[in-house]
Parts: sequence; structure tokens; C-alpha cells
Amino acid sequence: MERNINKARLLGAAVAIAAGVGMTGALAQCGPRRANPCAPRAVNPCAPKAANPCAPKAANPCAPRANPCAPAANPCGAANPCGANPCAPAKAVKVTNAQATKLYQGLKANLSRGYARSGLAVAGQYQTWRRYNVAPYPSETHGNRFVNNYANDIARDYGKYEQDLVLPVGSILAKDSMMVQSAGKAAAGPLFLMEKMPTGFNAESADWKYTLIGPDGSVIGVTKGRGNENVTFCAACHQAAGKSQAFFMPEPFRVKR
Ligand code: HEC
Repeated sequence: MERNINKARLLGAAVAIAAGVGMTGALAQCGPRRANPCAPRAVNPCAPKAANPCAPKAANPCAPRANPCAPAANPCGAANPCGANPCAPAKAVKVTNAQATKLYQGLKANLSRGYARSGLAVAGQYQTWRRYNVAPYPSETHGNRFVNNYANDIARDYGKYEQDLVLPVGSILAKDSMMVQSAGKAAAGPLFLMEKMPTGFNAESADWKYTLIGPDGSVIGVTKGRGNENVTFCAACHQAAGKSQAFFMPEPFRVKR
């Protein structure tokens, strides 16, 4: 069961990536929830089922290329202010855990420094938090980048990896990323943040605030803040994760408590 769900998620995720829009996400492009055939419901709309309108098929109404619901200002599009587009899906490169770890060690301080230019305190703090993955792993849903997941102390139950868990207000989950170009070369990728806000903050995202920060510290989007429209797709996909809104990393990469 668990395995099926994971597979479904990955395939769903692949929609966003195969889409070629990388982090703008196909799911975001489907507009408001009610009328939206692709809106995330309790059951993952992108689960690979025959009747799934979001399934990655030629006739997929959510496919990004000719998508009528594509966001006008694609934060990850060609005119992206982030320069070397941090949202474009990176090429998937295979490296060992040891190689990925070494690349990350070399880049870590740079990542933090770059993100900190956003002025967000979290950017300079998250690396002191507990990291829940044993080695950087490739994440299709985050542009094929190699990612790490950190959680602050309030969010320590994240390490239970329970889909039904509701993390407390003040929980912050931070995912940094790098683009692996070869076994010996990687470049900085964006920082993905989720912060649990007090009830009433935003029902659409189950009160989670999503933030996307470019490697140069540019604030690409914040739920209910600057560039809100650039991060609605985060919640759209994460809603499929269940009550916790957290998907957790693949089993082999989880730090066991
Ligand atoms: C198409 C689905 C999808 C989209 C879009 C997406 N995510 Fe995720 N996210 C996942 C999955 C699956 C995981 C866990 C596995 C992984 O890391 O690849 C995850 C993990 C995370 C985590 C670690 C917490 C957790 O869920 O375990 C954070 C933080 C995060 N995403 C932030 C973001 C932000 C910010 C955005 C938007 C800029 C975003 N995500 C867009 C699917 C998605």
C-alpha cells in the first residue's frame, strides 16, 4: 500500500517535471480548486489512474506545453529573473551517496550564504537543525536536484515519518538543493521552505507557508506574500501528502531515530 502511494506520488510528480516547467509545476496551472479538474483533493489527483486527468499522457489537460491554464508570469520561464534559471529541471545525473555527500560538503556554506541574501533568518540557520536524510538524494519533484531535508526543533516529529501527523505551529521544514553536473561537480539550487502558520493563515495550503528562494537569495515566492502565485503549486502538490502535508524522503534515505 505504502509502496503504491509512493509510486503514485512520484508519477504525479513526474508530471510537473516532464512538463519542462520544472518548479512552476503543472499542478499550479490549473487555477482555483472548485472548477479545477486537476485540483488536489484528498486523493492525489495525479495518481497514475486511468481516469486521472493529470496523468502524464499525451492528452493530459494539465500538461504544461499547451496548457491553457499556464500561469502568465512563469517564475521559472525563460524571462526568469533568477538568471541561470533555478527552476528549470536539471539533468538527472547518477552519483553514489558518498559522491553526493562530498559534493554537498563542498557547497553547503555557499548555499547558506546565497540564500541568506534574501534576508530570511532561516537561510542562515537551517543547517544547524537536524538533517533527516542520510545523503543528498535526487528529487524529481524539485527539478531533479539533489536535496536535503532539515527540520527545526518544533518540527522534530517530522522524524516519525507519519503521513497523518499534524506538525505544530512554528514547525519549519527546509530543503536545500544542488544541481549535480557530474560526480565531481555541482552547482547551487534553490531553497524550499515550509513553515506551519497559525490557523487561519491560509486554508488553501493547510496553513503552511511555502517559500522558494533562489541560490542567489532572490525571493521567488512566498505564500500570501511576494510572488505568492509562484508557490501556489507547492501546496497544490503537497496537499496530496495527507494531513501532515509532508511527503518525507524515500525510505533508504531516512535517518532513523
Ligand atoms: C509535484 C509535487 C511537488 C511539488 C510541486 C513540490 N513538492 Fe515539495 N515535496 C514533494 C515530495 C514528493 C517530497 C518528498 C520527497 C522529495 O524530497 O523528493 C517533497 C518534500 C518537500 C519538503 C520536505 C518536507 C516533506 O514534504 O517531506 C519541502 C520543505 C518541500 N517539499 C517544499 C516545497 C516547496 C517550497 C515547493 C514549491 C516551490 C514544493 N515543495 C513543490 C513533492 C512536491
